[in-house]
Amino acid sequence: MAYPKLYCIGCGPGDPDLLTLKAINLIKNADIIYTPTAREGKPSVALSIVEGFLNKDTEIQQLVFPMIKDFNKLKENWKDNTKEITNSIRNGKRAIYLTVGDPSLYSTWIYIHREITNAHKDIEVEVIPGITSIFSFSAEIKTPIGEGEEIIGIIPACYNLDRLKTAAQCCDTLIFLKDGRYFNSVLEILMESGFPGESDIFIAQDVSTNSEALQKKKLSELLRNPNENNDKYFSIMIAKKKK
Ligand SMILES: C[S@@+](CC[C@H](N)C(=O)[O-])C[C@H]1O[C@@H](n2cnc3c(N)ncnc32)[C@H](O)[C@@H]1O
Repeated sequence: MAYPKLYCIGCGPGDPDLLTLKAINLIKNADIIYTPTAREGKPSVALSIVEGFLNKDTEIQQLVFPMIKDFNKLKENWKDNTKEITNSIRNGKRAIYLTVGDPSLYSTWIYIHREITNAHKDIEVEVIPGITSIFSFSAEIKTPIGEGEEIIGIIPACYNLDRLKTAAQCCDTLIFLKDGRYFNSVLEILMESGFPGESDIFIAQDVSTNSEALQKKKLSELLRNPNENNDKYFSIMIAKKKK
């Protein structure tokens, strides 16, 4: 017997109205839904987005992806979580894996998918794209991310200052993701790397949800008065180089 396909669903940035029809249909018909979380019992953001479409008979299973740096432990964790999902599929269950935004952008799905490709070749997968926080944010601020020949860079936290400098020199738009506590620390580097003080900086938390907080400031203004409210994991900052 052929197993059901495993679907990974991009749930968009937070507003359930931004789910695709394909995502909703699959969610309604799932036997089991896997939701990633950073620690046991922590509510899943992706699950909260699809709540209104859940079938009462669908089993919900949290999978913990700890925020640790030990690569060997992480690999073990990805293997274990993948085994759990693939066991369900081999038992004939219609299983779904949820991610926030789009599955291809810094999501836990990427590790699960790689593990399936390497070690569970009998499992067929399909990825349902979702609206990323980036495009949801650009729609809200009514500002294009890229225009004409502009180059765009996406920075997933400030791990390497040299790479950030290179990106800031090359790019016309920079998008910063992950925990916003590091946002203030990159402003000086933007200025040194060719972003004039007149450049627009947009910062938001919880885009497309009821608790969304959004700000637009000039780079020079932010350098004088750094923002103090970036301390959320669901933070995003867009810097547009002034021409
Ligand atoms: C692990 S990445 C996942 C990105 C996701 N796959 C996407 O397409 O947006 C998580 C980061 O995305 C950003 N993010 C995702 N949803 C967001 C939202 N609704 N508001 C603000 N930032 C968000 C934040 O920077 C957060 O730390």
